Amino acid sequence: VYSILLSTELIAQNYDEAKVPSYILPDVLKAQSEKVVTNVKDWENIRRPEILTLFEENVYGQMPKTFDKYEFKIKNENKHSMNGKAHLKEVEIAVTNHNQTVMIHLVLFVPTGIKKPVPAFLLINNRGKNNTSPTRDTLSGFWPAEQVIDAGYAVAAFHVNDAAPDHKDSYQNGVLRLYPEQLKAGNGMKAIGAWAWAASRIMDYFENDKDIDASKIVLTGHSRGGKASLWAAAQDSRFAMCVSNCSGNTGAALSHRRFGETIQAINTTFPHWFADNYKKFNDNESALPLDQHMLVSLIAPRPVYVTNASEDLWADPVGTFLSLKEAERVYGLYKLKSALPESIPAINMPFVKPPLAYHIREGVHDMTSYDWAQFIKNADLYFKSR
Ligand code: GCU
Repeated sequence: VYSILLSTELIAQNYDEAKVPSYILPDVLKAQSEKVVTNVKDWENIRRPEILTLFEENVYGQMPKTFDKYEFKIKNENKHSMNGKAHLKEVEIAVTNHNQTVMIHLVLFVPTGIKKPVPAFLLINNRGKNNTSPTRDTLSGFWPAEQVIDAGYAVAAFHVNDAAPDHKDSYQNGVLRLYPEQLKAGNGMKAIGAWAWAASRIMDYFENDKDIDASKIVLTGHSRGGKASLWAAAQDSRFAMCVSNCSGNTGAALSHRRFGETIQAINTTFPHWFADNYKKFNDNESALPLDQHMLVSLIAPRPVYVTNASEDLWADPVGTFLSLKEAERVYGLYKLKSALPESIPAINMPFVKPPLAYHIREGVHDMTSYDWAQFIKNADLYFKSR
């Protein structure tokens, strides 16, 4: 049994499947009127908007949609990057509201020698900036840009700190300067909301870059970045596909199971990630009017790829897989058949097939070149079928 110190109390984390409490998941298809949704029209007009509001009110906070000014400029480019196989663009995106400006730096490589526009992978980078080095002085499996370029996709990344520093004392110093009212509201956005907001501003840029097919953007993120990738794709239907790697609690994993990380643990260690209202559910999961299967469902009919790592029980692999399985009901409304097995597959046995893809990789909490190889395969299957 592992435990973590929360102020003065010691809260045990459960890693024993036998000790998962019995729970009833909120029904993704049952509207607040009690009506059970059986078709796409009622899903899109009634139940989906209700669920989006539930997540805004209780978990991630509001997503401001307007701003006064949007500008971008190519700060640096190199048409012969990666030994000539990619065109590097370093883009500065400046968004202004209430006379405050936030600057988001985008690193983008576009494959050369193939027909444009091309589809792209965008990473929400929550780790060191060296992982997404434009000069390629460090290479990393976390963002294996060469591998993605070789597969015929553009590959892009921005760093979360540009949008909201990942710290409880400084997260306000980014997107939240543009929306100060958010800081006072119980349903105000915090860091994860700000990262998702920034992903949408990069989508705005893609819509203006003739090299990029903005209708084929795969949004990816690892762990806290994977929580943000789900929220961004739920909010912004311009993202064609979402990859949520090892996203765990308040990502793809079911909170009601209380396996591994809990809501109380996440809100205590990371009080700057979610809306203040979310703290009402600390040690009180049964009161949640939602769970994370409903977040995945908001992305339907667009494909979602979710992963785990075998040694990363903190992120609750079983609860993650179950959440994806529950979302099948909403994809079913669109007549999209999921190829997922009945229970969590064996380690290193990827189920790569849109709309719902899953794998559990051997090893630790990380995003690796192996993971990316599966994401590329899934994107190939999806985009080539369209
Ligand atoms: C911590 C946190 C997780 C998060 C992870 C990460 O472990 O508790 O919720 O996903 O950091 O971002 O790597």
